[in-house]
Amino acid sequence: MTPVDTPKAGLEGVVATSSAICHIDGERGVLAYAGHDIHDLAREAGFEEVCYLLWHRRLPSRAELGDLRSEFAAARRLPEAMLRLMRSLPAGHAMDALRTLVSALAHSDPEADDQAPPAAYRKAVRLTAQVGSVVATWGRLNAGGGPIEPDPALGHAANFLLLLTGERPSALEARALDVALILHADHELNASTFAARVTAATLSDVHSAAVAGIGALKGPLHGGANAEVMRMLLAIGEDADDARVERTVRDMLARKAKVPGFGHRVYRTEDPRATHLRRMSREMGERSGSTRWYEMSRRIEAVMKAETNIDANVDFYSASTYHMLGIPIELFTPVFAVSRIAGWTAHVLEQYADNRLIRPRAEYVGPEYPQPFTPLDRR
Ligand SMILES: CC(C)(COP(=O)(O)OP(=O)(O)OC[C@H]1O[C@@H](n2cnc3c(N)ncnc32)[C@H](O)[C@@H]1OP(=O)(O)O)[C@@H](O)C(=O)NCCC(=O)NCCS
Repeated sequence: MTPVDTPKAGLEGVVATSSAICHIDGERGVLAYAGHDIHDLAREAGFEEVCYLLWHRRLPSRAELGDLRSEFAAARRLPEAMLRLMRSLPAGHAMDALRTLVSALAHSDPEADDQAPPAAYRKAVRLTAQVGSVVATWGRLNAGGGPIEPDPALGHAANFLLLLTGERPSALEARALDVALILHADHELNASTFAARVTAATLSDVHSAAVAGIGALKGPLHGGANAEVMRMLLAIGEDADDARVERTVRDMLARKAKVPGFGHRVYRTEDPRATHLRRMSREMGERSGSTRWYEMSRRIEAVMKAETNIDANVDFYSASTYHMLGIPIELFTPVFAVSRIAGWTAHVLEQYADNRLIRPRAEYVGPEYPQPFTPLDRR
């Protein structure tokens, strides 16, 4: 078969699969999970409800939500072997550690080799519960603390903060992270989800697909952007005046550098997720007694709007929100994975349910065919 199309750089605008999980209208700024508007979910739902929605394409009843919370609680405690592995890993990028640790989770999963749909679903639930514990515990051990027991009475976001800090979060802190997890949970065929689906389409296992997703998420053009945003804010400095903030952004634009946390392949309006994270950043600032990071972010946003008309994306206000939650910068991108694991696994289950190997073609642009073969001793 001869490929017919000239490739589109970055596959922009190419529809590569059908999916019932996530709908984005980039022109109108609409994001919906299984038909449910993200604004309703960010205001009314909790992360566990959203996980159920992504996996089942409908909201859970109270009983179904209770069952899922129990399944999360049962899976959240990490096996001793995982703690030993965490302690033995050399210092390095937290996403590298997460990639290794999620891969290692397969070794202790009782159904690692069972590809049947019920087992794949149970692995999706377990893995989603465990990724939160892995990231929080990794962060805690790295900061010199000891592992903390999860509390089955707390939700996923609150447990994450408990396992990371050793302290029970306030209602506002738990809700701020809960909202961030809801907003990051899925985003159609983003780079990491595509990577996960391609892996699943070879009929490889759930853990391998998640590891592929983590690898793609790490890059600064994708999940790595939230850490870059915070590094930029810190480099500008908490005490910087507006003039310095504006100068920094204008200098970046003059150098043709990408300002992290701005722009999106799909949205031509404000990223609807940014709307809620902006609110969380302000509320966290007001509660902590300093809205400085929020105000600096507003200033940067205004300069970007005036100079480039490019809007903030999901990563921009998540940075200051996470910072005020006491989450260290190196965990920002892993926290994205704590949420996106729900979307990755939903897409993996959807791929398994109606699978065909994903194997596109490449337009050949190499040396002309056929080339004469010159034997080695005459080259
Ligand atoms: C998200 C992103 C990778 C999308 O990339 P893309 O769809 O390939 O878009 P492009 O990089 O081709 O950008 C299109 C134009 O907008 C400009 N632009 C896009 N994002 C920009 C940013 N953050 N800062 C400054 N200019 C930006 C580009 O320079 C380009 O301008 P040009 O046409 O004059 O060359 C890109 O906007 C980016 O790198 N953003 C910063 C990283 C980030 O926040 N990533 C998280 C995404 S959720």
